[in-house]
Amino acid sequence: MYYEKVTVVAPATLSNIGAGFDVFGLALNEPYDVIEAQRAARKGVFITSISGADSKRITMDPSRNSAGIAAMEVLKAGGADFGIEISIRKGIRPGSGMGSSGASAAGGAFAANLFLEKPLPAEKLIACAARAEEVTSGGFHADNVAPAILGGFTIITSYDPFEVERIEPPVNLGIVTVMPDVFISTKEARKVLPEKVELKKLVYHVGHASGLVLGMVKGDISLIGRNVMDIVVEPSRAHLIPHLHEVEKAAKEMGASAAFLSGSGPSIAAIFDMQKVNGRAIADAMKKVYETNGIRCDTWVTKPGSGCRRIE
Ligand code: HSE
Repeated sequence: MYYEKVTVVAPATLSNIGAGFDVFGLALNEPYDVIEAQRAARKGVFITSISGADSKRITMDPSRNSAGIAAMEVLKAGGADFGIEISIRKGIRPGSGMGSSGASAAGGAFAANLFLEKPLPAEKLIACAARAEEVTSGGFHADNVAPAILGGFTIITSYDPFEVERIEPPVNLGIVTVMPDVFISTKEARKVLPEKVELKKLVYHVGHASGLVLGMVKGDISLIGRNVMDIVVEPSRAHLIPHLHEVEKAAKEMGASAAFLSGSGPSIAAIFDMQKVNGRAIADAMKKVYETNGIRCDTWVTKPGSGCRRIE
């Protein structure tokens, strides 16, 4: 199929999800970015517009913009003798912890791939998008871009060589995300992480990460919830996120199976069983903590979603 112009939806994602730092990721049904790309005769990638949520923070320089870097990586890898112009509509604001840069990177890579005569396979696309994450966040991590491209729940089983696995999440898995009006740069939030981890913490994380994966495979939300545990990364970042523990407690009191810091924050996510618990009530309880403390926030009651897809 030969495209002149495409429009792609690129979803928000949760990452880390307890013990899976830089490894676990989950695509959300909403919110999402929309990327339009058009073939250009001149080589290179050109960002023609950025609009939507807090878009003024985002550079239009394609060598520093997530979508631009990822698209360029794909065109280079595919040996393209043409360029593309990209227009970005942000549905996920930057510095949210919901994979904003990852969505744009995934969308840019996915859109560029649609123009190639021989499209790259998904794993290669993910690696191209992760390269954009490396430039913008200061660390090569693919836990947002993998689910943003593949959809569902993803596990980066290895970075070198790069390998990723995808699991279809349980159908009754509900997700709440609450995003307070606080900006957190992933680059800065990675600087507070410990360089070394004690052996007993490693054991704890391997156990809980394994339990979570088993819960996903068995479709057991209670098992997933019991295993969303992090004694390394979230505690190191807790001081950056106002009212983190109170918001998590509020979610659990309303029946959430687990509540946790989404990616590098400030968004806080909760998971729940859609057949048993009211997600809106969880979202309201989490939001109330912020409102009581004079902090505005946005909430989504959503579910796992698919990866990048062409809509036009
Ligand atoms: N795994 C990354 C981190 C995700 O926690 O730094 C950033 O969204």
